[in-house]
Amino acid sequence: MEKKNFKIFLGFVLILLVSRICICCASESDVYCLKSIKESLHDPFNSLNSWNFTQKSICRFEGIDCWQSDENKVISITLSNFGLIGEFPRGIRNCTSLTGLNLSGNHLYGTIPSDIAVILQYVTVLDLSNNTFSGNITPDIGNCQYINVLKLDYNDLEGEIPSRIGYLPRLKTFSIANNYLTGPVPLFFSKNITAESFGNNPELCGKPLKGCEDSWIWKHVDRASFIKAFVIGWVLLFTMVLVLCLFKFPTKAINKIVSLNIWKLRKKKHLTSGSEEELSSQHKVKILLNLLHCL
Ligand SMILES: *[C@@H]1O[C@H](CO)[C@@H](O)[C@H](O)[C@H]1NC(C)=O
Ligand SMILES: *[C@@H]1O[C@H](CO)[C@@H](O)[C@H](O)[C@H]1NC(C)=O
Ligand SMILES: *[C@@H]1O[C@H](CO)[C@@H](O)[C@H](O)[C@H]1NC(C)=O
Ligand SMILES: *[C@@H]1O[C@H](CO)[C@@H](O)[C@H](O)[C@H]1NC(C)=O
Ligand SMILES: *[C@@H]1O[C@H](CO)[C@@H](O)[C@H](O)[C@H]1NC(C)=O
Repeated sequence: MEKKNFKIFLGFVLILLVSRICICCASESDVYCLKSIKESLHDPFNSLNSWNFTQKSICRFEGIDCWQSDENKVISITLSNFGLIGEFPRGIRNCTSLTGLNLSGNHLYGTIPSDIAVILQYVTVLDLSNNTFSGNITPDIGNCQYINVLKLDYNDLEGEIPSRIGYLPRLKTFSIANNYLTGPVPLFFSKNITAESFGNNPELCGKPLKGCEDSWIWKHVDRASFIKAFVIGWVLLFTMVLVLCLFKFPTKAINKIVSLNIWKLRKKKHLTSGSEEELSSQHKVKILLNLLHCL
């Protein structure tokens, strides 16, 4: 009898131990995640002061929300306007149950990781706006299949928008305004995505923005300087004609040109002075016509 009781007791202890270990393992990854985020970012205003890892729970840390307050499983991280400096914290990969990440309004730089869909496997809300992220937008964002909200506005992103982003089935709020993106806007699945989402990227084109010019000249010549040159050219020409008319310059000038031409012609054809009158009247008309044509 005692032996049986002991066996039951042992089993109970074992179950308790295993469950304890499981909770410990599950949270260890998330603790490691936050530790590595804190280590990888420069924090001049001590915004992450509350992240004290001698405490048992990480769920009370500033900017951290957990699935359940007694379980160290992070559901979202919001470090908006924390004054943080550094590259995208790759340690976030170890917060394996994360669905929301908001790093807006910091001084984060470098590129958006090309394996973002692996780092943020279940992300539904991603806000990296108002930082200094640069380089191209990785097409891998198109693999974040649960994403609802994607904000990349106010950064230094360049290149084209990967067309795969347009096919994200759950995307409802999207902004890449105020970057240096170029080329055509891809087709978007969602109807809620308007011109506002793309604002202030001077070289983006296509629906819902203005159409893409396929003419060669606009690809190689800056439109503003072309128009400037065009206007200046016309103004110059107009004033020249005006000046010529006002000072009755043409008759004088034409007479000069005509006599010069007659002189040249005569030299060429070895003409005698007899036919001078005839030649001069004929050529005067011809040269006048030429001059008018040029103007
Ligand atoms: C963190 O994530 C990496 C990559 O998935 C993994 O190799 C590593 O074991 C994880 N670390 C912890 C403490 O879970
Ligand atoms: C972290 O918490 C421990 C105990 O709660 C405390 O002794 C320690 O000073 C704290 N560290 C910081 C940096 O606040
Ligand atoms: C990110 O945080 C800021 C500040 O709390 C907030 O204004 C913004 O709406 C958040 N972004 C998203 C997508 O919720
Ligand atoms: C960008 O973030 C800074 C803080 O880093 C904040 O002062 C500013 O208002 C933010 N700008 C926008 C457009 O959100
Ligand atoms: C549509 O987009 C705007 C701005 O991007 C956002 O505020 C709004 O919540 C979105 N509407 C829906 C139904 O998601």
